[in-house]
Amino acid sequence: MKAVRVSQQQDQMQVSVESMQLSDLPDHEVLIKVHWSSINYKDAMSAAGNKGITRSFPHTTGLDAAGEVVEDASGEFQPGEQVVVIGYDLGMNTWGGHSQYIRVPASWPVRLPEGMSGRYAMALGTAGLTAGYCLDKLLTHGYRAEQGPILVSGATGGVGSVATMLCSQLGYHTIALTGKADQHDYLKQLGASDIWPREQFKEGSERALMKPDIAAAIDVAGGEQLVTILKRLQFDGAVAACGIIDSPELHHMIFPFILRGTSLLGVASADAPRSARERMLAKFAGQWALPKLEDFCDQITLDEVPEIITNMIDGSNTRRIVVKVSE
Ligand SMILES: NC(=O)c1ccc[n+]([C@@H]2O[C@H](COP(=O)([O-])OP(=O)(O)OC[C@H]3O[C@@H](n4cnc5c(N)ncnc54)[C@H](OP(=O)(O)O)[C@@H]3O)[C@@H](O)[C@H]2O)c1
Repeated sequence: MKAVRVSQQQDQMQVSVESMQLSDLPDHEVLIKVHWSSINYKDAMSAAGNKGITRSFPHTTGLDAAGEVVEDASGEFQPGEQVVVIGYDLGMNTWGGHSQYIRVPASWPVRLPEGMSGRYAMALGTAGLTAGYCLDKLLTHGYRAEQGPILVSGATGGVGSVATMLCSQLGYHTIALTGKADQHDYLKQLGASDIWPREQFKEGSERALMKPDIAAAIDVAGGEQLVTILKRLQFDGAVAACGIIDSPELHHMIFPFILRGTSLLGVASADAPRSARERMLAKFAGQWALPKLEDFCDQITLDEVPEIITNMIDGSNTRRIVVKVSE
């Protein structure tokens, strides 16, 4: 079988597709033939040798996988069942989905909802489910369209593009925050109502509070950008924070919380319980179905993963990437 392998040679990371044996796979219950996978920012971090993501190399990347069960020693799944594995430790410290076969614990696979294709599930993948969890948190917090616009940061990236499409499809006034001046047409096609350039967003952010012009936000960046969002939230507004593209640090005064009652909601999709994954996948198969999502994805082959994954680390990504792993 073929698999992407990341290895460390002195200080250099090497990423290539290699011929491997089934016996190289880790010793878990469920053997899955992978048909589709995807590429997420964390895959790029793993391939870049980030020890916070992957502790030891050589390693196979791929946070997401969709395919068919070949065998299951636990008896929970039958051969031929269509499943997805999204998150947990897949592709981090466990052999990931950029491989024609994976072996995972029986608690990780989730059956594909009726009518959902493996390709669509991977167009969503970790990024899409995270976008869904973010919106879900905001709705549970009480966000309603009439309160005002929702801002999505990193709008051209994986999480951001699905969030932009989902929020606009649900009828929210969706502001796409982006650093890419040449991608405004793409963001309009995703459904963005307004597009805000990232470089102007932080102007005036040295003040304790700013003009309150957003009711809710989904943020992938953290750092100063998240601090600015908190300062721009309306009374009782909330931001669902999931990423660290800008910075993992948060240097922040308490004023937005105690003067405007704003909330900072954390989203952690990797360890979400299986019931949450099943509920989120069912939503994306039903009331949150995104019929145009697959049209907005780039499709690549397993052989193309090393080049794409290496280039993604600089934040230049402009859409979801699905990987056709095998027939
Ligand atoms: N908490 C969780 O469970 C969870 C799950 C999935 C992902 N994440 C995290 O969410 C983040 C986004 O992941 P992704 O897969 O969507 O990544 P991605 O596809 O690489 O997209 C990231 C986007 O962020 C924007 N960006 C780049 N540099 C930036 C900067 N310095 N400041 C602000 N924005 C910048 C860019 O979009 P624009 O040019 O349009 O601004 C870029 O396309 C990552 O930090 C990832 O680790 C967390």
